Amino acid sequence: MSRRRKETLRELGLTPIWHRRADSALDESAPSTLASDRSVPKVNAAKEVTNDREAQISRMDWAQLKSTVAGCIACPLCESRTQTVFGVGDEQANWLFIGEGPGAREDKTGEPFVGQAGKLLDNMLRSIQLRRGEGVYITNIVKCRPPNNRAPEPGEAEQCRPYLKRQIVLIKPKLIVALGKVAAQNLLHTNENIANLRGMLHSYADIPLIVTYHPAYLLRSLTDKAKAWEDLCFAKATMQSLLAQ
Ligand code: URA
Repeated sequence: MSRRRKETLRELGLTPIWHRRADSALDESAPSTLASDRSVPKVNAAKEVTNDREAQISRMDWAQLKSTVAGCIACPLCESRTQTVFGVGDEQANWLFIGEGPGAREDKTGEPFVGQAGKLLDNMLRSIQLRRGEGVYITNIVKCRPPNNRAPEPGEAEQCRPYLKRQIVLIKPKLIVALGKVAAQNLLHTNENIANLRGMLHSYADIPLIVTYHPAYLLRSLTDKAKAWEDLCFAKATMQSLLAQ
């Protein structure tokens, strides 16, 4: 397969499907009766496989989900990772915190938010009487480290989306806190910036969702720490009223 073709498939989020179908109708090398009828049937067939992948993931239990994520090759991030970073914490947590993607330390240890940003996240949790692992689950939009700590690309987030979706269904959190722009924009399917998204109650699949700044950003921007504190108070008050319902 040509490099350009591979890239196009990746952008369409079809790369794993191409691999899986190497011996089937989508195999370029196969003497194909589809040769005269290339694009539409291929795309449709590939969409079906995408749906099939999503359907399979949507039925997984924790063990299956963890091992599938650990072996995932659905996007190019698998090539540079040391290991996947699935998530950590209470699997029946009321609170779900979602960041962007693992950094260098997380890639080494396999646990989300263990670097400087992680320390700040732990302090943020403490400030509202929460602790990592106790009623709290922490994960990311993508489970593999994007090289050079760049933001995950849309196609990469898209390939990880069914995993996160399944984690959320299994956890059934009462409240989701999106940490930073990448998490917020991916979860809410919007291009709005944080300033416009914070301070209000959103929802993801009927689960209340609050947006705040990413701890790594707060390490650089002291002025926005006060706003993050407001967001945490808002989140705490929201949880109290959800628990009282
Ligand atoms: N930043 C994130 O968004 N997630 C991590 O796990 C670490 C840093």
